[in-house]
Amino acid sequence: MSIVSITRIVRFNAAHRVYNPALSDAENQRLFGKCNNPNWHGHNYTLEVTVEGAVEPRTGFVVNLADIKAIVEREIVDVVDHKNLNLDVPFMSGTIPSTENLVLACWRILAPAVAPARLAKLKLWETENQYVEYDGR
Ligand code: NI
Repeated sequence: MSIVSITRIVRFNAAHRVYNPALSDAENQRLFGKCNNPNWHGHNYTLEVTVEGAVEPRTGFVVNLADIKAIVEREIVDVVDHKNLNLDVPFMSGTIPSTENLVLACWRILAPAVAPARLAKLKLWETENQYVEYDGR
């Protein structure tokens, strides 16, 4: 059976402060530098959502990408866009809002939400020079 992957891209912007409240101010500054700015800073994020599966003979699709778009917008974009990841986003509560932790949170939400489509990979860009990837391992 031929497995094909298909990717939908969404964009959002959000503010955060990357710091660990359990550490001292000096240690946070040493670890996180500018990202530790107490008065926040923002990023324009890009999230690439890849699902995979066999092509359905009836539709010629792996999955209806309009369904995936609607799920990602409802579960992720509507929750984080124009929000503060530290203060406003329930699924990031109590978590250092690094790109790594954000992609893990997105996976935990999207993997069951896109079923029966199989989530294959998430790629989350924080800047045009930096991204993280996660495939569920
Ligand atoms: Ni940042």
